[in-house]
Amino acid sequence: MAQLWGGRFTKETDQRVYDFNASIEFDKRLLNEDIQGSLAHVKMLAACGILTEEERDRIIQGLNSIRDDVRAGKLSIEHRFEDVHSFVEANLIDRIGDVGKKLHTGRSRNDQVALDMRLYVRSQVIETEGLIKDLLQVILHTMEENLETYMPGFTHLQKAQPITLAHHFGAYFEMFRRDRSRMKDIYERMNYCPLGAGALAGTTYPLDRNMTAELLGFYGPTLNSMDSVSDRDYVIEYLSALATIMMHLSRFSEEIIIWNSNEYQFVEIDDAFSTGSSIMPQKKNPDIAELVRGKTGRVYGALMSILTTMKGIPLAYNKDMQEDKEVTFDAIDTVKDCLTLFTGMLTTLKFKKDRMAKSAMNGFTNATDAADYLVKKGVPFRDSHGIIGRLVLYCIEKGKAIDELSLEELKAHCELFEEDVYDAISLKTCVEKRLTIGGPGPEEMKKVIRTYREALEDGKQ
Ligand code: ARG
Repeated sequence: MAQLWGGRFTKETDQRVYDFNASIEFDKRLLNEDIQGSLAHVKMLAACGILTEEERDRIIQGLNSIRDDVRAGKLSIEHRFEDVHSFVEANLIDRIGDVGKKLHTGRSRNDQVALDMRLYVRSQVIETEGLIKDLLQVILHTMEENLETYMPGFTHLQKAQPITLAHHFGAYFEMFRRDRSRMKDIYERMNYCPLGAGALAGTTYPLDRNMTAELLGFYGPTLNSMDSVSDRDYVIEYLSALATIMMHLSRFSEEIIIWNSNEYQFVEIDDAFSTGSSIMPQKKNPDIAELVRGKTGRVYGALMSILTTMKGIPLAYNKDMQEDKEVTFDAIDTVKDCLTLFTGMLTTLKFKKDRMAKSAMNGFTNATDAADYLVKKGVPFRDSHGIIGRLVLYCIEKGKAIDELSLEELKAHCELFEEDVYDAISLKTCVEKRLTIGGPGPEEMKKVIRTYREALEDGKQ
């Protein structure tokens, strides 16, 4: 047991209590942030005359050597310390002697851990944003290549109207674009420095909180010391955004699984991103997509976990808050893996364009357009809907598509059908004429794609 407290205790801590209380096993992940925060704190203490320049330099050198030694594998983070903060401080004192004991002047582990977690989450927000951008690039590339790849659009998983692959992928572009902009929102709101809040009520040392905030790349210091040590809203916002990313990835995975099925065969997942069966030699399974879909649960779980942990905590710091780490770290690792793997799978995905087009032709996806054709000839829409409904029934009996019927057969349902109907309800026309903003018509899609491309290249939304 190696802990930072003990003066007021007359008994040793029960080992089980110590183990239950300790967080080193997981907060060792915050080593770099902990050292980064301490470096800024020490520089500020010296600038404010609380430490001498010589003391500052020795502490800085000691902290840097700890970081370098851990990085080089010369120093391992031992579990006999209670947490990463104790590990760093004890090591520092070991290395530079009594001057190391001055590091914690004007600071508490409460504002220290609040800072470490904020620094870590901030860097993860940036990384997540980058991974989403990589995914957006692949989606956009697929869109650019498939402006005229026809496929059925579905509602209720029933064929509805013809669209293009570009249009379908565009829906996902929009989803992940929002996810990306959420990262930027979170960054803006969270980028304030809690260091200097002390245990809960600030400190009587004349700390320069503006200086530490600036050294650590924050917009400024947080403005209420009680909130500073007990705020984990940014973790919740981030987990909520991660949960939304997973929801999007899961929907996309679900579609790929369906499209990859023997029945659909719209896509083929690359061998490198598929797995086999131990018993059925013919199998090539979409395990990656299934795992992404499956892992959504644990990310939602992390969000629920922290929301629940936080809901009953009185101000200010309470030990409950140590529970913010494991689930958050797990969620971050999970989402980063899922984004990376999913992007890889998508990059190598093969589209079976002929199967998609054939499927669009077979499911009466042009029935709305056939109804619209009659409307243009003067039939009220509700009547034309009825006529085409009966026509579809007739087609089902005959085993034909609408455009496979002869003009006589069509005229038997409505006199107003003419030769031009075949062109009006062809797959190409059905898609090309849909030129409303946001629709699948290639001319309209090209404009949208241009906006997306510019946004990705400028680093804008
Ligand atoms: N391990 C603690 C956490 O993660 C660090 C802060 C401890 N502060 C305290 N007063 N016990 O929240």
